[in-house]
Amino acid sequence: AIERTFSIVKPDAVAKNLIGAIYGRFESAGLKIVAAKMVHLSREQAEGFYAEHSERPFFKALVDFMTSGPVMVQVLEGEDAIRRNREIMGATNPAEALAGTLRADYADSIDENAVHGSDAPASAAREIAYFFSDEELCPRTR
Ligand code: CMP
Repeated sequence: AIERTFSIVKPDAVAKNLIGAIYGRFESAGLKIVAAKMVHLSREQAEGFYAEHSERPFFKALVDFMTSGPVMVQVLEGEDAIRRNREIMGATNPAEALAGTLRADYADSIDENAVHGSDAPASAAREIAYFFSDEELCPRTR
């Protein structure tokens, strides 16, 4: 089915000037960008976005990193978009990511791993609504 998923180009990848390269991977895989913007997250925004990880030992480091510079947030649309985006990204830990995936090619560590992508339909809906209003989502009819 045609799905939407939420994606972040994280501060490490923005700093390395990889926005275009990463968007190119999405587009080459048939995922359409239907909303996008650059934001420098506040601590409050990052803590709210990652609330499910608030008790994990890496939480403070995660928030420090995600607020260390601007990110690109985007909504990707396409057939099986959630799973397809996760395939393009590769495993959370770049040391375990398959060759040719974004994290294998561009990430330095599990903490600074270049991209985020929703893991399920419910989280995709929550994450899209966290950053975008309905009017900011642009249907792609051609
Ligand atoms: P992301 O998909 O953005 O969701 C939470 C992030 O926490 C994850 O990517 C990783 O970058 C980071 N992280 C750091 N340590 C871990 C860990 N042990 N397990 C999962 N995520 C981790």
